[in-house]
Amino acid sequence: MTDPCVIAPAPANLVEIRALTRSFTSRNGLFGQKRTMTAVGDVTLDVPRGQVTGVVGESGCGKSTLARLVLRLLAPNSGKVFFEGVDLASLTPATLRQLRRRMQFVFQDPYSSIDPRYTIRAALMEPLLVQGVRLSALEAQDKVGALMAMVGLNPGLAASYPHQLSGGQKQRVGIARALVLQPSFLVLDEPTASLDVSIQAQIIGLLESLRLELGLTYLFISHDLGLVRYFCDRIVVMYLGRVVEVLPTASTPARHPYTIALMESTFEPDPAKRRVITRLSGEIPDAFNPPPGCAYAARCPAASSRCQQERPVLEQLAGHELACHHPQI
Ligand SMILES: Nc1ncnc2c1ncn2[C@@H]1O[C@H](COP(=O)(O)OP(=O)(O)OP(=O)(O)O)[C@@H](O)[C@H]1O
Ligand code: SF4
Ligand SMILES: [Mg+2]
Repeated sequence: MTDPCVIAPAPANLVEIRALTRSFTSRNGLFGQKRTMTAVGDVTLDVPRGQVTGVVGESGCGKSTLARLVLRLLAPNSGKVFFEGVDLASLTPATLRQLRRRMQFVFQDPYSSIDPRYTIRAALMEPLLVQGVRLSALEAQDKVGALMAMVGLNPGLAASYPHQLSGGQKQRVGIARALVLQPSFLVLDEPTASLDVSIQAQIIGLLESLRLELGLTYLFISHDLGLVRYFCDRIVVMYLGRVVEVLPTASTPARHPYTIALMESTFEPDPAKRRVITRLSGEIPDAFNPPPGCAYAARCPAASSRCQQERPVLEQLAGHELACHHPQI
């Protein structure tokens, strides 16, 4: 029998994702046939407490869909997400809303989810109002001031509107808004992708100091493997909706040909063009009509006839996970 006086240790993984799958159906043209594509296919991964887990891959590989599934902003077709051991699908809407305080989203464009007529103060108070937390005017002022200071914003800007702020300042508001409800887990979906490189470095520095100060756990999504290697403890590489490699540390040498190609890619310093990854040749296959074997085969220099026919499954090699018939040394 379990001794009621012994407090069980917190699980090492804050979040556990198990065989998560989500597809989307659309019509091919106005009167065309319905077609289905798998945006996230059979994804299993752990998010260890207190660490930064990076998810990297080209545009359309399913990163944001995975993020929305993890936070249960989107329901999966199958599979489960556990937060501190609790299956999110088992919760009532009211309990899920309570739990949402602990898991928050930071978007690439923070004001995409905030009314542009809101001042910073209003944007920071909104999550509290949604959760039914009522503060006096003085308490609200103190709370907004403390949050702004925490993210390096001058509290004197509290009455400013988004159009009066720089891109970096807006992202600091987005981070402060995510912290209002004192979460333990943040999903950061390309939080620096629209920022100049110098501002990007400042925001990454801020995220790192907040993580240490507040004991946060991050799921950090990016298409920039260089940035992910710099910032993350573990790296999950996705291709066409599936995990193809998990590097247990940022310095673990990549063995999957796709990860190696991503590492050799260069990234546009201009944020407007940054989504284009150069040096990665070949087209990503049509997600509505994926090839029968490895999805990367048409672009892969190591592809064999086996790769054309048989889809590789993700296998563990001493903590390093890999889905490839011919891993590179
Ligand atoms: N609501 C939706 N309805 C239909 N298709 C969708 C929907 N959301 C995403 N998709 C499709 O799912 C695939 C994965 O999209 P997702 O936004 O997750 O990719 P991503 O890796 O975040 O890309 P990016 O780097 O451009 O943000 C894409 O082909 C996209 O068109
Ligand atoms: S399975 Fe084959 S085609 Fe796919 S990445 Fe590995 S070597 Fe390349
Ligand atoms: Mg995305």
